Amino acid sequence: MSSVSFDQLVADPHRALAALREATPVAWLEDLGGWMVTTHELCARVLTDAETFTVDDERFSTRRVVGSSMLSLDGPAHALHRSAFAPDFRRRHVHDRLEDPLGELLASLATRLAPLGEVDLRSAVALPTAAEMMQRALGLDGVSAERLIEWNTALISAIDGVTEGGDVPSYGTDAFERLKGAVGEAMGDGAMRDAAERAGLPVEGMASNVAVLLIGGIVTSEGAMSIAFRHLLDRPALMGEIRQDSKLVDRFLEESLRYEPAAAFLDRYATRDVVLGNQSITAGDLVRVSIAGANRDPLVFEQPNLFDVSRANPSDHLTFARGPHTCLGIHLAKLEIRTAILVLLRALPGLSAAPGPSPSVGGLIFRAPDQVPAIWAGDSATLS
Ligand code: HEM
Repeated sequence: MSSVSFDQLVADPHRALAALREATPVAWLEDLGGWMVTTHELCARVLTDAETFTVDDERFSTRRVVGSSMLSLDGPAHALHRSAFAPDFRRRHVHDRLEDPLGELLASLATRLAPLGEVDLRSAVALPTAAEMMQRALGLDGVSAERLIEWNTALISAIDGVTEGGDVPSYGTDAFERLKGAVGEAMGDGAMRDAAERAGLPVEGMASNVAVLLIGGIVTSEGAMSIAFRHLLDRPALMGEIRQDSKLVDRFLEESLRYEPAAAFLDRYATRDVVLGNQSITAGDLVRVSIAGANRDPLVFEQPNLFDVSRANPSDHLTFARGPHTCLGIHLAKLEIRTAILVLLRALPGLSAAPGPSPSVGGLIFRAPDQVPAIWAGDSATLS
């Protein structure tokens, strides 16, 4: 049995995960009620073997709040639910349809911020960008980004409550019902109607998947963008290099995603007795895949605790998972973070971290800094 605690995994997971990986890469963690897998190889093996390690289990709290969706199904049912939305999130489609609106949104945010000279980049840029882009990507024209944030917050809080052993609270059911109403309206035409027809899903099933898209698309993108902003502000020399050569932003982005993944671990349930990394796992056991652990596995990443934009294999991380549940929003998430960095660097001359200690990244599953305070030369800043 391992002594790594819940609190250690929130405050300083990387040290605890490195100790676990060295001692026993598949470890029973009493505090988390399941196995924690910490090597890249074993994490990838679990994620790509959905027959042995499934998401389809009644304990899965997201399913209890928003119903069955691609996130909580495996096999043909999973493929069907995913097929409704997959075409809309392909790289080409995302770039063709969302790159311009994203650029305009960020430019207008930056123009509003420029005279201020200081701001928290998480609340002023990362959250509104993630929410606005999900509203556009899903074609939920009748709903404001603020409303989506409100429903999303209620759903996540309900999921957290259920994870801790409670019943689904009424505010969670309420938020889901209101989202379902909005999805029903959006199904009248456009992308939402096409998606529903593609998979033959009724409004209930569409709403479950839209809820998962919102949860996946807002919290993780907001977190990953905030983490990237923090890494950037902490490295003024690198910021200067990216200003000079914008192509470097892609390497920076991958390293930021690897170094501190916005979703730290993923849950699976063993469907049969199986041996993994010399441990005997029993059918029904909870198996938690540590993305944060896999991303700092020294067998895959040289000097894993170094933030190094020149590493040879920057995108071998598992931040967007692997296998059938590989993140649907990879291209949108990367586009958002890359564009946000380039627009802010252009629009806010002298952008730098506000005085004081660099904000720490916290959270058990979803990880982000609470705030990312930044300053710049406010008076002269304008965006052409
Ligand atoms: C940097 C930001 C993001 C990160 C780190 C991230 C991470 C992940 C991870 C780790 C999974 C796998 C979950 C599992 O296997 O249990 C996942 C799945 C998913 N993500 Fe993302 N995500 C991000 C952004 C987005 C965005 C912008 C969207 C919206 C389009 C999105 C939509 C989804 C969906 C729908 C799934 C479920 C796919 C399935 O089960 O087949 N994600 N994401």
